[in-house]
Amino acid sequence: MKQAVATLVMCVAAAWTLDPRSAYSHNPTTTTVLFNREITSLLQRKCLQCHADGKLAMPLVTYGDARPWAEAIKEEALARRMPPWPAERGYGAFSNDIGLTPREFEFLVSWVDGGVPQGQGDAPEFIDHGAHWMLGPPDVVLTPTSGAIVEAGSAPAFKRLIIDTGLTRETWVRGFDFKPGDARVTRAAFLSVAGTDRYLGGWTPWRSSTELPEGVAFRMPSRARIAVDVQYSGITETVTDIPRLGLYVVSSASAGAVSTSVLRPATFDGPGISGGRVTAELRIPASRALVSIRPEMQRGGRSLELKLVRPDGSREVLLWVKNFRQDWQTPYVFRQPVTLPAGSLLQATAYFDVAPASAIAPFTVTLNHYPTTTRK
Ligand code: HEC
Repeated sequence: MKQAVATLVMCVAAAWTLDPRSAYSHNPTTTTVLFNREITSLLQRKCLQCHADGKLAMPLVTYGDARPWAEAIKEEALARRMPPWPAERGYGAFSNDIGLTPREFEFLVSWVDGGVPQGQGDAPEFIDHGAHWMLGPPDVVLTPTSGAIVEAGSAPAFKRLIIDTGLTRETWVRGFDFKPGDARVTRAAFLSVAGTDRYLGGWTPWRSSTELPEGVAFRMPSRARIAVDVQYSGITETVTDIPRLGLYVVSSASAGAVSTSVLRPATFDGPGISGGRVTAELRIPASRALVSIRPEMQRGGRSLELKLVRPDGSREVLLWVKNFRQDWQTPYVFRQPVTLPAGSLLQATAYFDVAPASAIAPFTVTLNHYPTTTRK
């Protein structure tokens, strides 16, 4: 409430100092926030990865593109539907966070309420970061044995593609970069070593690459095959998607190998779960550093919280997803790996609106971590 009043005062105060030429003809301008300045750089950071030609959604690149969507932009931002980042701010710091900061949020609202001014000159050009190999030229570029057919008009759904690594000996991989064949239909992708529960990481339209900390690597067995679960959504035509996967190889993992653990409820009531609440726990026997998390929920899953309880009793919420979205799944990559001291307990609590089917775990939380050496 206090914030809203402050914004209003700022807008009114600004109204006298504005250049009338920057105003959209029939709207009086009551903001200093300009499309060509604050808004384009915000769109570049948080929206154009999906809102540009050849991407998932309608372009918002130029003033002409964005102007008709102004009210919808405000509405989507207020409802926190766009950009699609469901984690609550202040619980865990993630390097792939695409959520709006409070300041960005105020810019958008102020721009729309203040008459959507364009500003002078031209907006800066859109730079498509996702088009490049983000970690430099990969050591190996792989493609799946066959592509995925995405039917016209199909609703968001996962399909599994298998990529043969062709590796003839065990190999250490320090990172990867994934490139969709057709960015118009690709919403998310999650990679694992086929036939195991070894999770490698995820891809979203706004973050294509995963890079492990110095000295840390994934161990790829010889002849490993990589399973890529891609979430596709259909467009007006049927298309075939053949993605590419770039691997970055190192000779050894001096600091340790990444391993995967999965939090899974031990027991649950199945249909009619009491109070819609389901929990899972995992004890960490030896000290680890947590790199990333992938939560998954069955349909009807609403929220999920992951908490760390250290042996000294201190607690920290590592992730809080208030509104889990099946249609926008994302990995959560910690900005700094989180230390899990030996004896720590990880506790996940999930809430369901609709009881999930009993045959499968209602939710899982997949964790990637590596050993930490404690100096004495
Ligand atoms: C990860 C991809 C992605 C990002 C990032 C993203 N959008 Fe979207 N947006 C979509 C898709 C796809 C749709 C179409 C509806 C859907 O499938 O959810 C959409 C729909 C919209 C709509 C139309 C909603 C309606 O009324 O139909 C608006 C407005 C919008 N986005 C604004 C934004 C803004 C502003 C940002 C950045 C602050 C943003 N989006 C970031 C993918 C994205």
